[in-house]
Amino acid sequence: MFPKTSPIITQSWKKLKAHFLTNSSVHMNDLFEQDPKRFEKFSIDFEDLLFDYSKNRITEETIALLVELAKECQLDKAIRALFEGEKINETEDRAVLHTALRTFSDEEIIVDNENITPLVLNERKRVKELCEQIYSGTWTGYSGKKIKNVVNIGVGGSDLGVAMVTEALKPYWEKGITPFFISNVDSANLLEVLEQINFEETLFIISSKTFTTLETSTNAESIKALFLEECKDDTFMHKHFIAVTGNKIAANEFGIPNENLFEIWDWVCGRFSLWGSIGMSIALTVGCENYEQLLKGANGADQHFKNEAFDKNIPILMGLLSIWYINFFNAQSEVVLPYAHNMSKFVAYLQQAAMESNGKNKDRNGNPIDYTTGVVVWGGAGTNGQHSFHQLLHQGMLFIPCDFIVPVNSKNKQADHQEKLLSNALAQPEALMKGRTLEEVEEIHEKTNQQINSFKVFEGNKPSNTILIKELNPYNLGSLLAFYEHKVFVQGVIWNIFSFDQWGVELGKELSTSKLKAIQKRKVDEKFDASTEGLLERVKTVSYLQ
Ligand code: F6P
Repeated sequence: MFPKTSPIITQSWKKLKAHFLTNSSVHMNDLFEQDPKRFEKFSIDFEDLLFDYSKNRITEETIALLVELAKECQLDKAIRALFEGEKINETEDRAVLHTALRTFSDEEIIVDNENITPLVLNERKRVKELCEQIYSGTWTGYSGKKIKNVVNIGVGGSDLGVAMVTEALKPYWEKGITPFFISNVDSANLLEVLEQINFEETLFIISSKTFTTLETSTNAESIKALFLEECKDDTFMHKHFIAVTGNKIAANEFGIPNENLFEIWDWVCGRFSLWGSIGMSIALTVGCENYEQLLKGANGADQHFKNEAFDKNIPILMGLLSIWYINFFNAQSEVVLPYAHNMSKFVAYLQQAAMESNGKNKDRNGNPIDYTTGVVVWGGAGTNGQHSFHQLLHQGMLFIPCDFIVPVNSKNKQADHQEKLLSNALAQPEALMKGRTLEEVEEIHEKTNQQINSFKVFEGNKPSNTILIKELNPYNLGSLLAFYEHKVFVQGVIWNIFSFDQWGVELGKELSTSKLKAIQKRKVDEKFDASTEGLLERVKTVSYLQ
């Protein structure tokens, strides 16, 4: 059974509080001074990835206590429950098996008395077959032209992961297929894509687990109407529309035949679904071999997560370090800094994975929580952040732990750009840690500017992890994503929360229905608060809408 231990009643939590009181002011510079082997001690290799967590406010005792916390919270049992398909998503009575989507074994995984492994492998085979049909031209558009564009219509977990992965793997776009993504109901998104494609050479993938999401159904209906306006024949729908959904009936009603339907099961949480058929646009864009490498990288990370000792386990340490900062140093956010332009969409993906999972205020017994759980995850691609928010990281009042993600080799070779990118990627965590004393400032600047010099002091001691990646290839990206997924899982277990439902998204969606009626000047039989009424009134008076 999935354990439900409150962290704050554990012995280790009490020990960590005492440890924090005696150790929180230790400067990392001193820790490195005292132990020349600190880097070796606090870094872990996983295939092409190096996880350097030595620039953290930790000692060996800190790690030992955090590991003890994980054990007291029965993380080992929770990990087993995850991989074995226990219904750990209790409020929706579902298993959570995104890990099964990237399996390469025929080992049985039973959900509701059914072995789901063959289902996963069969769907993956169907995706590969579709890709081959598109590449070979046996699947063409209605006018007989080869498909060269794929448009994913989806939002949240049906968009963010696939958009991020295709962007991150841009150097692997080897099949002549260009991906586009329509997610927002703001028609600017749809129109911007339509300017770049033509229907006769485009495959539309309607990605929606429920097939009821407002944005996706609105975009899909608009695309369908425009498509039929052009081709004038709905028998051509099957050449240009496929759906990845758990709602076959709705997809059929939309006009997509069964042979064009791909499954997303209810034991796959939307924000962790890119590993299955939702990843169709990835497979089409980078090719099935590269797509399988992505899955294999994630699967490798799964084995590491399942089998490595806690103190040598990258995602477990990522999760425990974040809890050390959030629950003991009172960090209210974490910043993620991928030093790679092609990872510009990584933070947006991670925001859903982390914040939709752990932005919870009830524990797994339904009781209100009186400790911090999910925090704000933010950030952006380096080096750009250095010219925007890094000032606050270096000299602001907030305690914000940083993750630096640093691919070493780039396929985008140009002069010495990569060397300069890397030099910054290493200098930033160094500066955050080392800081600069007034004495050091005065050695550099005129002594006469005493007053000014104080503004140039950096207190340092700001913690960060650096994940160095030999190259951003599909395998390594898969491992990285899986590590972050498992970090989120570890946090949720320790915080004793349900990380795989998302009841918090429902109220806003429900309230928008009556707002739509009001804006469309249809009859609304309820009064809203004065602000909403006032805003609606203003919308109606200034709107150009018909
Ligand atoms: O934001 C709520 C949510 O349900 C996400 O969890 C999900 O990824 C997204 O909307 C899209 O849902 P669907 O895939 O069912 O369209």
